[in-house]
Amino acid sequence: MKRPLKIVVAVVGILLLLALAFVAYIQFSSFPTYENKAPVLNVTSDSIKLAEGEKIVKTLCSSCHMSEDGKLGGRHMVDASAFGEVHATNITRHSEHGALSKYSDGELAYLIRTGIKRDGSYAPPWMVKLPHLSDYDMEAIISYLRSDAPELSPSNRPNQPTDYSFLAKMLVKTGAFKPMTYPSQPISGPDASDRPAYGKYLMLHKYDCFACHSKSFASCDFEMPENSKGFLGGGNPIPDTEGKIILSSNLTMDKETGLGNWTRAQFIQAVKTGARPNGIGARYPMMPFVHLSDDEVSAMWDYLQTVPVIQNSEDFSAP
Ligand code: HEC
Ligand code: HEC
Repeated sequence: MKRPLKIVVAVVGILLLLALAFVAYIQFSSFPTYENKAPVLNVTSDSIKLAEGEKIVKTLCSSCHMSEDGKLGGRHMVDASAFGEVHATNITRHSEHGALSKYSDGELAYLIRTGIKRDGSYAPPWMVKLPHLSDYDMEAIISYLRSDAPELSPSNRPNQPTDYSFLAKMLVKTGAFKPMTYPSQPISGPDASDRPAYGKYLMLHKYDCFACHSKSFASCDFEMPENSKGFLGGGNPIPDTEGKIILSSNLTMDKETGLGNWTRAQFIQAVKTGARPNGIGARYPMMPFVHLSDDEVSAMWDYLQTVPVIQNSEDFSAP
């Protein structure tokens, strides 16, 4: 072999070995664990808090955790198949299979804010994270999860461990998917009479509209949502239940490609029922937010008036 060729063969060989080592590392190394610094919390309950908690859980948790029997006994998440065989956990009051019975209030708040489970492992992105939720709303969630509501009555559906795909393993083990920071200060919710601030809280920190509605999940800044690429300008390619890509809509006030020509009433109707002025129902993964009040969605509309306008090359929601 000529000398330059030998060098090429050697370099290619080394690169191949490195690639193999990387694949082996991703496949076989153990998952990272994180220190569990759960706070001590003793959540008290009252009827108003409980009703708020019910609304939040039905809006944010049930879609993944509800089984066919209507209890929060968990399910196989076929829509997350790119990440492997993903199973949402049984979170009912079942003493053996229900995850909640093992969690203290503080550990639950820590999991929901950061994604770190009580054993220190990390619940990847398919499990919701709410780092900026107000302390009151967090207590509302926990008080509802501890209640005797029918969906939480013991389900004996056993849990199946999630079998991660190579992609999911790579994203977790290289740190692309990583826990959120637990807040260092108490979080007092916004004043509901400051309409834009209240709407902003609902869209960015409580109901998580911004991630689907910005440019892509990969360029979302979950700690500082407004720094996300194409913030609320839509275009995020999200698969529907059949794997067909749906682009999220532009929620900024651009007249051609956003909501600039919509009325407040049209917005409230679209968010709560999915019915749009163009006559085409909003498709999955946009799920109607049936539990939200007109007042809450109206505040979101006030907030959207303050968001920098983005003009896209086309209207992604056009028929
Ligand atoms: C997009 C789907 C999704 C949503 C929304 C979701 N979860 Fe989960 N959740 C999961 C999956 C999947 C797991 C299993 C985690 C894993 O694979 O490690 C899980 C795990 C859990 C666990 C068990 C953790 C453990 O130690 O095993 C609890 C408790 C939980 N979720 C509570 C909630 C609550 C409360 C909400 C609403 C605020 C919520 N989840 C919203 C998908 C979801
Ligand atoms: C899971 C991702 C996801 C979440 C969460 C989400 N949306 Fe959507 N939304 C979409 C997608 C995708 C579309 C486009 C549907 C279509 O074109 O059929 C859409 C469409 C819409 C539309 C219709 C706009 C138009 O121009 O037709 C409105 C309004 C809307 N979303 C508001 C919201 C609000 C407000 C929230 C939070 C309370 C929210 N969405 C949460 C994915 C999401």
